[in-house]
Amino acid sequence: MATTSPLNLDFVRSQFPGLDRGWTFFDNAGGSQILKGAVERINTFLIEKNVQIGGSYEVSQAAANALHEARTAAMHLVNAGRPEEIIFGNSTTALLQNLARVMHSQLAPGDEIIVTIADHESNIGPWDRLQERGVIFKVWPLNKETD
Ligand SMILES: Cc1ncc(COP(=O)(O)O)c(C=O)c1O
Repeated sequence: MATTSPLNLDFVRSQFPGLDRGWTFFDNAGGSQILKGAVERINTFLIEKNVQIGGSYEVSQAAANALHEARTAAMHLVNAGRPEEIIFGNSTTALLQNLARVMHSQLAPGDEIIVTIADHESNIGPWDRLQERGVIFKVWPLNKETD
């Protein structure tokens, strides 16, 4: 039988030092206040391993291992099939623009892209622009009562 224990909010809050500055941020995306442990891991990577991967030397292999480890963790988080399915990038906006740009050659006039009205602009604009190439772009209007 599963046991439950109360969420230790003091501990959780202590993991987000950016939120301990007297402000309440209602205007930022979910990823904008970074977990302390993630900041520390990124710092360590940038200081110790920020080199090109694919090299034969030790630091390059350590960088490749760190990337693989991060992809594997994200794979588990989103229930992906393989670490190679995980791509890290600067932002959702940049990644989706890149995805739409590379996918346009696989889309033919008449193919449809459907997003929802609830999607963020980062997942609307890149697909909307494919209409210039004959792709049909549709916005699914969610029904507030049923969806
Ligand atoms: C719900 C949601 N999705 C996506 C984005 C885009 O995120 P990014 O800043 O990584 O491009 C934002 C940014 O505010 C957002 O609030």
